[in-house]
Amino acid sequence: MVTIAAVGDLHIEAGTGPRLRPLFERAADEADVLLLAGDLTECGELAQADAVCEVFDGLGLPVIAVLGNHDHDHGEQAVIAEMLARAGVTLLEGSAVALTTGGTTIGIAGAKGFGGGFAGRSAEKFGEDEMKAFASHSEQCALTLHAALADLDTSWVVALTHYAPVRDTLAGEPLELFPFLGSHQLAAAIDSATVPVALAVHGHAHYGRERGATPGGTPVRNVAAPVIATPYALYQLPTDPGVDVIRLR
Ligand SMILES: [Fe+2]
Ligand SMILES: [Fe+2]
Repeated sequence: MVTIAAVGDLHIEAGTGPRLRPLFERAADEADVLLLAGDLTECGELAQADAVCEVFDGLGLPVIAVLGNHDHDHGEQAVIAEMLARAGVTLLEGSAVALTTGGTTIGIAGAKGFGGGFAGRSAEKFGEDEMKAFASHSEQCALTLHAALADLDTSWVVALTHYAPVRDTLAGEPLELFPFLGSHQLAAAIDSATVPVALAVHGHAHYGRERGATPGGTPVRNVAAPVIATPYALYQLPTDPGVDVIRLR
């Protein structure tokens, strides 16, 4: 059995590390890995990233993260990446990590992702240069996730993004925001992976809902903190194809 702890959108503020750290101290007893689905900081300030490091440094289990749009706001994402690395947090962006735990192997492929919208109503590379740039960036972000998934040859594979791969988990958000909350191309990357993806985890949609699935049937979970309403959700990966992911808490 593999148990994944996951949360996104903590939007950590400077100076809050000592208050937040106790919420995560039991994670190592409960899960094989802790996934952070972006928007670690409120707006990408380095003092906020310091607090993130205080919370997750040395928790006793692998902590794997992607950044979110908020973490990019001050343009300091490269420095934040270095700070997270020093704190032992593995930051993924179009990359993957393989872990051995409890006699099995689990691979996490991660990318921030981007908006772009959903099939039939998505951004197209047509018209103004700005629209082409928006649609191209969306496509590029999905390609990086696809490439990261292709790197894995583990018993279990999990996809980690900030932006949503499906619209199921956006239900509750204003429709006008959907093109900025995710992209169907992320789901296409997951569904076309050469290894089956057991679970796709994302954040970003604070007012969405938790459960969804890609067109190919991969379970999708929106773990934005306001959605899961707990410091982190705990998911047990299914042992048989066709069995759904079980939320333990
Ligand atoms: Fe957020
Ligand atoms: Fe976000």
